[in-house]
Amino acid sequence: MKVTIFGTGYVGLVTGACLAEMGNHVVCVDIDESKVERLKRGEIPIFEPGLEPIVRRNHANGQLEFTTEASAAVAHAQIIFIAVGTPPDEDGSADLKYVLGVAQSIGRHLDRYTVIVNKSTVPVGTADRVHKAVASELSARGAQVEFDVVSNPEFLKEGDAVEDCLRPDRLVIGSSSERATGMLRKLYAPFNRNHDRTVVMDVRSAELTKYAANAMLATKISFMNEIANIAELVGADIELVRQGIGSDPRIGYHFIYPGAGYGGSCFPKDVQALERTARGVGYPARLLGAVEAVNHDQKTKLFDFISHYFNGDVRGRTIALWGLAFKPNTDDMREASSRRLMEALWEAGATVRAYDPQARHETHRVYGDRNDLVLCDSAYQALDGADALAIITEWKAFRSPDFARIRAALKEPVIFDGRNLYEPAVVEEAGLAYYGIGRGRSV
Ligand code: UGA
Repeated sequence: MKVTIFGTGYVGLVTGACLAEMGNHVVCVDIDESKVERLKRGEIPIFEPGLEPIVRRNHANGQLEFTTEASAAVAHAQIIFIAVGTPPDEDGSADLKYVLGVAQSIGRHLDRYTVIVNKSTVPVGTADRVHKAVASELSARGAQVEFDVVSNPEFLKEGDAVEDCLRPDRLVIGSSSERATGMLRKLYAPFNRNHDRTVVMDVRSAELTKYAANAMLATKISFMNEIANIAELVGADIELVRQGIGSDPRIGYHFIYPGAGYGGSCFPKDVQALERTARGVGYPARLLGAVEAVNHDQKTKLFDFISHYFNGDVRGRTIALWGLAFKPNTDDMREASSRRLMEALWEAGATVRAYDPQARHETHRVYGDRNDLVLCDSAYQALDGADALAIITEWKAFRSPDFARIRAALKEPVIFDGRNLYEPAVVEEAGLAYYGIGRGRSV
């Protein structure tokens, strides 16, 4: 099928590449000329395993094109995806200016029946607003063109996005038009080979499904972090508790890992936006507020450990930090817990020596050159001259380190582990003090 995608960010690019991989002819539009030029040369602006080869291959064989020309891209498509950003505005609601801007531009160029698909995470009711924006552009130029707006939220995880896209566990289609539903079913048929993963519903339910999914996952994490904080105070080990509850299939083992808080471009923003939506319709979403509040405090948990350990004074101390990205397999630093930790350490007068397998450039882009931040080339280099080690991203490379080497390099033999990577007994046997999250030891 002929598909156009507005927005070559994370969602748009992955979706475009995977649809092209399945044999569709995809045109990706972006207003950023230099980004489009780089994509044409096969340079991928994000680190996402497996994405580069499919972008290059499909670009080379003409199945995937990049352009800044909205008019030709609209003319090309039977189905147009809107996959532009919805950054939080000042009060935490999703800012729809990019989504509605694309809708207007579609309305200016549309000349035959097309399905317009909202792929961006947007508040309930946005499809109606997109519909109105397109319709008003059409009537401004006296054009009578039929179109439908449907909601088709994405559930990609950074780091696994290509796999999630090619092998989705569900395809949610929110549509009030059989014609549009039929076209999306046809588009997604190759993704559905073994059994039908399509869930068709009304538009508003689909829009809410996206927020409900992310809010549920964020709730699981904040819940576990809360129990971890209690475990610490009552002398229990959250890792044993986690296994004890995960074996109940109604609870499950997934997404109940306590840690230094969730980050990324989705959970923090979506929980806040859903809370604002609820408030906007007169419902005080207390649970969502609590999920956010627990996460906020959890992000400074390691700083609290470190500060207590050094008797409230880290001025002049150097902390080695393993991990910067908000999670492994990405270079994304948005809302990363590492940022709150580093900023708190700097504020208190400490220096950070940090290592991350991917996020070095992104960290430099965010913070620039500063005397109290040294970006290192390896995990062990980060330990040179450091007082203590803190771990904030669970990269595989950090999972079985040489504890004797860590012990020898650090001035104070102590590890603050924000992702519970190690067994306390093993670390302690190597002569290091160990502070994990909810591991029965509070400072
Ligand atoms: C999340 C959802 O998992 C995707 O399903 C969704 O499509 C996506 O948002 C989105 O809305 O676009 P992502 O932000 O890539 O995906 O990251 P996750 O893998 O969900 O991790 C989010 C954060 O939660 C990370 O900081 C991670 O460290 C933390 N986390 C995750 C925990 O602290 N504990 C856990 O048990 C799991």
